[in-house]
Amino acid sequence: MTKLVMITGASAGLGEQLAYAFAHRQMRLLLIGRNRQRLERVARKAAKLTTAGVAILVADLAVDNGAPVWRQCVAKCGLPDILVNNAALPGFGAINGVPVAKMQQVLQLNTVVPITLSQLFIQAHYRDQRSSYLINLASAGAELALPYAAIHSASKAALLGFARSSRFELRTTRIHLMTVLPSLLATGHFQQQTVPYLRANQLIIKAMTASQLVPAKVAKKIVSATLQGQQILRLPMAYQWFAAFTRLAPNISRKIVALPYRTR
Ligand SMILES: NC(=O)c1ccc[n+]([C@@H]2O[C@H](COP(=O)([O-])OP(=O)(O)OC[C@H]3O[C@@H](n4cnc5c(N)ncnc54)[C@H](OP(=O)(O)O)[C@@H]3O)[C@@H](O)[C@H]2O)c1
Repeated sequence: MTKLVMITGASAGLGEQLAYAFAHRQMRLLLIGRNRQRLERVARKAAKLTTAGVAILVADLAVDNGAPVWRQCVAKCGLPDILVNNAALPGFGAINGVPVAKMQQVLQLNTVVPITLSQLFIQAHYRDQRSSYLINLASAGAELALPYAAIHSASKAALLGFARSSRFELRTTRIHLMTVLPSLLATGHFQQQTVPYLRANQLIIKAMTASQLVPAKVAKKIVSATLQGQQILRLPMAYQWFAAFTRLAPNISRKIVALPYRTR
């Protein structure tokens, strides 16, 4: 049976590429975002890749933590078999410089919204006999001590905690929860969010620019890892090794991670 995939933040960046990657697998799509024009453009392109149908829902997930969006999605297309909690705001910047309202906005969209939607998804699928898939987009910043990323890291670490704890309860269900921890993605945030905090060294900036992951490739990996029932996906491969090293030697890891940044 054709699977229905609900993707939040599908109008741009990784969410857009996830739409194409799932469409390529002949899945039915429900794409969510606030920008109608961009969503319609993504839907048109995705519709050329799948015969299963593509719908959009123009909505702000920040309203009541996404619960009304979930209800509208279910009413419009039925219960999704796959939910991708991808929408997020960048939460970078020195702690002293991030206004409280901005911090709350980030924590709401990056943490409270995906956890609310995850809970609604789990409640809806708890007793199902067939498999369903819940994918939460966290970040390498959830487990690495990234300078000038305290709000971002806090918002994403919560998703990791949610996954680790809920694994116990999900063991007896057919719900597969996967948390994705990518490093830098080439979705256009690097210049504004990261470069201001790097040392003024062209080699560092060039190396970090080159290290950005290609969203289309990341999206394909997410889709295949999802269908394999993987629980955690760290990207790129080198980060998987570095994450293991971080668990063994957190202080050395912290110093390595901070090297490219302006720190006192
Ligand atoms: N970029 C990176 O380097 C990086 C690294 C690690 C992890 N990640 C994570 O990967 C995911 C995708 O990142 P990205 O860089 O592709 O993000 P992006 O390009 O900024 O796209 C964010 C998406 O979220 C949607 N969105 C934002 N606020 C919304 C709201 N209130 N309601 C509904 N939709 C909303 C945006 O669409 P509208 O404007 O149309 O609403 C857009 O489609 C995020 O979870 C991010 O934290 C990113």
